[in-house]
Formats: sequence, structure tokens, C-alpha cells
Amino acid sequence: MSTATTNGAANGTATNGAATVATRSITEVEREVWRLCHDLAARLQFHGWHHVSFVRDKAVHFALRNGSDVALVEVAALVHDVNYMVRRNSLPVDGRSLRLDILARAGVPDDVAARVDEVVEEAEMRTRHRDISPEAQALSDADTLFKALPVTPVVLAPKYLEENGITLRELAHKIVGEQRNKHDAGYYFYDPEAAATYSRWATANLELWSCIVESLDDPTVNDLLTAVS
Ligand SMILES: [Fe+2]
Repeated sequence: MSTATTNGAANGTATNGAATVATRSITEVEREVWRLCHDLAARLQFHGWHHVSFVRDKAVHFALRNGSDVALVEVAALVHDVNYMVRRNSLPVDGRSLRLDILARAGVPDDVAARVDEVVEEAEMRTRHRDISPEAQALSDADTLFKALPVTPVVLAPKYLEENGITLRELAHKIVGEQRNKHDAGYYFYDPEAAATYSRWATANLELWSCIVESLDDPTVNDLLTAVS
């Protein structure tokens, strides 16, 4: 396991936000999520530890930039996709019980755990809006960047289909349906540096998925996909 834990106050508790998470609790959350990802690796082809650790590292980076509670963001990133451990093709709310259990076992106070869960919900692509909290913005930018990476549609999209038991058509409509309006409204990324650095990737990614949606209207393309599947 790598660690991006950055909260180093003398008492082991982050102090740069209203909600705080002790360093030892972050370590415990990381250990349990890593263990779950390891144990369930065979069915977490997309949302396994490689995804969680990427989002955690980038979320901490964005949290340091926007002045939010870095420790809370780090913990939220670690538990943001545990719903895929509970049920395939599910929503963040489906992982709430497991999320809160992990946080409780790690010694995260109930009120802070509730805020972590709230940040995860706020950052959800399907429902996020322009005015989510800075903590949710940091998590959202990290998770959105993973989606917008040029390698994701090439290497990871097939793993998403396999993990979640959905078709290419369903995934293409999901991506375009959930992401196009945020992109066009100018809050695909919240962090100006992320927007400046990654918007070209995001635009290309959305264009690719829009083209996939269009191509699936061609019966001959569907025949092709049926033949190779
Ligand atoms: Fe995620």
C-alpha cells in the first residue's frame, strides 16, 4: 500500500477543517479497504485498489489546493466506491452501511463518518452540481479524472462492463447522459488547474463516447459486435 496521508498535526488529527479524522483512523480505513479490494479483486475489475488508490492520491492533491479538510477527503476517497463491493452496477447509497461500518471500526466519530458519507454522495457524477462543498469537489475531480484518462476507454472500459454486467450501449449512454451537461456547463472539473490540464482529455473522451452511441444506431455495427462477443 502507498500512502498519501498528509495530516501531520502533533496530536495526529488534521486541523485544517471543521471535520477531522485522526491519522491512525485513516491508516485503519486504508488497511481495511485494501484488504477488501484484495479479497474481492476477482470481481472488482474496474473499482479495485488501482482505482481507489488513484482517486485517493489525486483527491488529496486537489484538497491541498482548495483548502478543504484533507484528511476527510482522503478517507472519503478510500470509501467512495465500496458500494461495488456490496452490489454490482450500484449507487453510493448502496454502500452506505458498509462505508459507515468501516469508518466505525477505524474509530472515526459518527458525526465525521456522516460527513464522509455526505461528501461521497455530493461527489457522485450522476447528481453533482456546481455548488458542492470543497471536499466533494476534490473527490469529484479525482474520480472524474480517472474517467477522463485517455487510457480508460481503451484499457478499463471492458473491465467496467465485466464488473457491472452492463452492455456497451448502456455504458455509453450512462457516460454521455451523466457527463455531457457538466462538461457543457463548465464544471466538469472544479479545480482550475485540473480544468486547464485535463479538459482536452475530457472533451475527447466525451466525443468518443458520443460517437460510440451514434455508431450503435447502425445495425451493421451491432452485427459486428455480436459477431465478436
Ligand atoms: Fe470511483
